[in-house]
Amino acid sequence: MEKKGLFINGKYEIKESTYVLLSPYSGETLAQISKANKDDVKRAIDGAESTYHVFKSMPAHKRSEILFNVVKILNERKEEMAKVIAKEAGKPIRTARGEIERTVVTYQFAAEEAKRIYGETIPMDAAPGGENRVGFTWREPLGVVVAISPFNFPFNLVAHKLGPAFAAGNTVVLKPAEQTPLSALLIAEIFQKAGLPDGALQVVTGSGSELSDSLIQDSRIKKVTFTGSAKVGKLIKEKAGLRKVTLELGSNSGLIIEPDIPLEKIIKRCVEGAFAFSGQVCISLQRIYVHEDIYDDFCKRFIEEAKNLKVGDPLEDTTDISAMISGREVDRIESWITEAKKQGAEVGLGGVREGTIFPPTVLTKVTNDMAVSCQETFAPVVSIVPYSKLDEAIEIVNDSVYGLNVGIYTQNISNAFHAARQLHSGGVIINDIPTFRLDHMPYGGVKESGYGREGIKYAVEEMTELKFVTIKTVL
Ligand code: SIN
Repeated sequence: MEKKGLFINGKYEIKESTYVLLSPYSGETLAQISKANKDDVKRAIDGAESTYHVFKSMPAHKRSEILFNVVKILNERKEEMAKVIAKEAGKPIRTARGEIERTVVTYQFAAEEAKRIYGETIPMDAAPGGENRVGFTWREPLGVVVAISPFNFPFNLVAHKLGPAFAAGNTVVLKPAEQTPLSALLIAEIFQKAGLPDGALQVVTGSGSELSDSLIQDSRIKKVTFTGSAKVGKLIKEKAGLRKVTLELGSNSGLIIEPDIPLEKIIKRCVEGAFAFSGQVCISLQRIYVHEDIYDDFCKRFIEEAKNLKVGDPLEDTTDISAMISGREVDRIESWITEAKKQGAEVGLGGVREGTIFPPTVLTKVTNDMAVSCQETFAPVVSIVPYSKLDEAIEIVNDSVYGLNVGIYTQNISNAFHAARQLHSGGVIINDIPTFRLDHMPYGGVKESGYGREGIKYAVEEMTELKFVTIKTVL
């Protein structure tokens, strides 16, 4: 069995303590992964800290060049990477290829952004006492950043942390999700080939609160950027003290469909939004609110379209839905559905596990207090609910602890803008599903969906400190 080490100061370190990485789909053994302990974390931070003092002075065009080199290597090795995702995360290969295409774009934006980290001049004489003074700002890197990444986009959500961190001149200690260490180690090798100095990217694999705590609580860490559940996000925020944090957390994303929409144009897209990667996406379409005039027609067409999805091996080109990340997750969603049925929900499609796979599932007669509606399902489960007035739909969508992306389909521009103003979320997607994301968009949530924004330019702002400088020009 292949043994994988931690990646510290440009070298692999195989540890005595390991865990076995299994394919979520087939259960086959993929590798034996080293588990980092407190001392490893300390050494990783030591290396990242000393490299930072060199890396922060590397000119922007050099940092940009390294990131462009990463883009070049990724472009040459796309299929290999997609297969890594399919194997370790169980992501269907076509979806995994889509993730790699996005990862290339994300690093490309980071490479470009490295060259445009601007400051501004301040009109000092706008206030009495500012005469004969010049004021300006620039942005400085923070230092060592801890990045804690999830399993669901093992390359692209890591890129959303590494890309801006290096563009700005920070160094990073990356702790990938326990289920997806192979992609993190592979990207570390690629960065090394691309010219990143050893120590600028350390990868510590393993799991458990001891590992995360020793990372977060080290006083040399200047920023924690995390994508994952709201529960863990809250703990991180508590433990991070006065350090900067960016938290990309969960959602139960809603979509409103007004009666003026030709359904044949949106059904396929809605099915894709609800079930891509088995709904294990923070902005997966979980709650669909359809105007009562078109509700029955929508449900019928949606279910017909969802029946076409092919369930199977993630490595097969034709597969749309494969295993969920773990048996525990299948158990969880199964129990939520049993509970919803007891509370009056009806199952229009699916609802019964097939081993490690949970099939596309459509629920109706769902109320906002059921777990399948008010909590994040992170599973291929969608509820379709009728409404009669737009404001009623907006109110139900807003009645959530989450607020990441919300979608609305309407051809009425006034209603679209009314909804965009009233919806309490980080993003409003008009005439598309909430699952829509391009990698340069500002992305992040309100309420329990998180804190701070990603999207390269915005993440660079979060990974730099604004410094103000003023000069008295007449003594
Ligand atoms: C996420 O699941 O947080 C990210 C979704 C995406 O990038 O498309």
